[in-house]
Amino acid sequence: MEQNKPTMAKVKIEVRPVNVGINYAMEELRREYAQIKGIYEAAIREINARLQTLDSEFSFKYMHNPIHHMESRVKSLGSIVRKLHSLGYPISISCAKKTLHDIAGVRVVCRYVDDIYRIADLLLAQDDISLILEKNYIKNPKPNGYRSLHIVVDVPVYVSQGKLFIPVEIQIRTVAMDFWATLEHGIRYKAPAEVPPSIVDELRACADVITETDYKMQEIFKALQKVNDKADETPESIMEAEEDGKGRK
Ligand code: GTP
Ligand code: MG
Repeated sequence: MEQNKPTMAKVKIEVRPVNVGINYAMEELRREYAQIKGIYEAAIREINARLQTLDSEFSFKYMHNPIHHMESRVKSLGSIVRKLHSLGYPISISCAKKTLHDIAGVRVVCRYVDDIYRIADLLLAQDDISLILEKNYIKNPKPNGYRSLHIVVDVPVYVSQGKLFIPVEIQIRTVAMDFWATLEHGIRYKAPAEVPPSIVDELRACADVITETDYKMQEIFKALQKVNDKADETPESIMEAEEDGKGRK
């Protein structure tokens, strides 16, 4: 009887192949993720550079910066695995590349609602950028009140083997929409899995107030722009601008 009991050594031998298999798969996943991460980072740099150029040009031409600030991230390996798992897909980097369009993400926070469409239209007008998907949560807000314009674009990235087109999810929203989304995200994290309908209604009511303010602020900005434009048109100011070499076309 004593002889049939597994020794510690035997137990170890029985368990090891499973651990080795998992460790090997994780190592492989980490290695492949490290390889693609650089390419998605390059795609984000490309989008950031193009958006910054548009913002600077706009500022020079119209004395207005449509972009307030930008944020970006490459989805972490943990988030990729969680998302593939929740969608019921195989856990592999090749599957992530094929199915997930938000591995590279850029958030563009604009000042006013009109700026959102200006920025999106100017970016999409660039002939090497193609639109893959658009979700307009400004025209069709989510039931909880979430508003933003989401576009997924393919952007060219040059690597040693040539040109690759990499998808980047761009979320474009105003400072006001960002304020709501940031706080709502924090609240939801602490909430139970299912947010009660009464809370959804309250969030929606807050979003409606914020939306109204967002458009009011835009109207104030436009009204002030008109006043400034009129002031710029007085003979004295035109002469002053010419003398200073600041004449605007
Ligand atoms: P994800 O699996 O989250 O990527 O969702 P999806 O593929 O169905 O796309 P969707 O356009 O709904 O959301 C994409 C991203 O938009 C999310 O990851 C969030 O960053 C943001 N988002 C969408 N809905 C909400 C919301 O209700 N509140 C907040 N705070 N952010 C949201
Ligand atoms: Mg996402």
